[in-house]
Amino acid sequence: MYDDLTRMAEPYKIKMVEPLKITTREERIRLIKEAGYNLFLLKSDDVYIDLLTDSGTAAMSDYQWAGMMLGDESYAGSRNYQHLCEVVQDIFGYKYVVPTHQGRGAEKVLFPLLIKKGQYVLGNMHFDTTKAHIELAGGIGIDMVIKEAEDTENYHPFKGNFDVEALENFIKEKGAENIAFILATVTCNSAGGQPVSMENIKEVRRIADKYGIRLFFDAARFAENAYFIKQREKGYENKSIKEIVREMFSYGDGFTMSAKKDALVNIGGLIAIKDDEELFTKVKTMLIPMEGFVTYGGLAGRDMEAMARGLEEVLDENYLAWRINQVKYLGDKLREAGIPIQYPTGGHAVFIDGKKFLPHVPQDQFPSHAICVELYIEAGIRAVEVGALLAGRDPETGQNRLPKLDFVRLTIPRRVYTNSHMDVVAEAVKRVYARRDQIKGYRFVYEPPILRHFTARLEPVE
Ligand code: F0G
Repeated sequence: MYDDLTRMAEPYKIKMVEPLKITTREERIRLIKEAGYNLFLLKSDDVYIDLLTDSGTAAMSDYQWAGMMLGDESYAGSRNYQHLCEVVQDIFGYKYVVPTHQGRGAEKVLFPLLIKKGQYVLGNMHFDTTKAHIELAGGIGIDMVIKEAEDTENYHPFKGNFDVEALENFIKEKGAENIAFILATVTCNSAGGQPVSMENIKEVRRIADKYGIRLFFDAARFAENAYFIKQREKGYENKSIKEIVREMFSYGDGFTMSAKKDALVNIGGLIAIKDDEELFTKVKTMLIPMEGFVTYGGLAGRDMEAMARGLEEVLDENYLAWRINQVKYLGDKLREAGIPIQYPTGGHAVFIDGKKFLPHVPQDQFPSHAICVELYIEAGIRAVEVGALLAGRDPETGQNRLPKLDFVRLTIPRRVYTNSHMDVVAEAVKRVYARRDQIKGYRFVYEPPILRHFTARLEPVE
């Protein structure tokens, strides 16, 4: 292998291909109009390069597919569940493991067991379904990411870190009894796929211990976070990814995981608990009516086998080096062209700063969304808005929430696209940037009351 990653190619070869349909610009102008200018309402067949999400979109390996044939579809006691438990125990050092159908299934089961009505859940930055499940359980989700994350131009190696001072002050002010738990999202998706440092995790643990509060992880992108620690944090350069993961999770009491990201599968999730048997008993009790019996949790045996194997594979450092550098490759191309992105690039996506890209479009006319529409028209690329459209309205005032970070997320599926695809994406973004002065904002034709971005219909503001 080349040590120089700029010259490294994919550490895998292609055994099966999925043809992509190529549309014309005229067709795309018609298709996006018919979809109400909402990229969620497009048929995926009409998309050339799909960067909507890295969730459930990975290409599985031959080792995983071989495992799919070894599915034990017994209702109870499946051998694939045993294998999954062994792998999770070995990697994370947590004793108790249950599968769920995906990440939000894990949140739905665990959170009501930890939250009493009106309690706070303190996070670096909660993902939206996570925040929704905190609220459904009667809690209040609070984001406490460091201020540096809000300045997209400024380099900081760990923009996913907690503002530990704010964290401690909040606990002192509200009282530890009003905090349900602390949730560390690794990497921090909403801040731009940004990592959390080991030092910060340790510091959060120290505060948690001081006030007798539990610390959980939202572990969807745990391996990517560990890779950043190895690259950027002193003292970890010679440790293996597995050692780093083990240490990270030694500071937690448990985790929820969407396995659709770093476990390299198309469906699946997990709850794992370090050693609290009482909590595990409660989880098992709730899992059965919500997700399914303990040894399958909403998954087929073959899905659990693929997940176990994906968790083993994701620790491979050559894979992670390629993965993180593919994201960086795209990010560097955009930066060289003067396009404003969250810098440095994170683990799973390049996040374009929509407010800086289209300063003439007011934030409540959804600048990041407007860029997504143009990227589709330009080259059939489907990105996703993570900004004011997604943020919805304040339930009390009815006003649009206007988040500080308003992004176009170019989310890169794992092991799916080559850097030739990234070249096309970079070129398309540059062309849209060159004609940015002509791009208009959007307004609603139909606005659903909740989770509006999935089904809304819009039109350009003339
Ligand atoms: N936590 C994080 C940090 C996530 O990014 C996601 C999903 C979830 C929890 C929920 O997991 O989808 O398996 O139920 N993120 C996807 C995304 C949807 O596109 O970022 P899930």
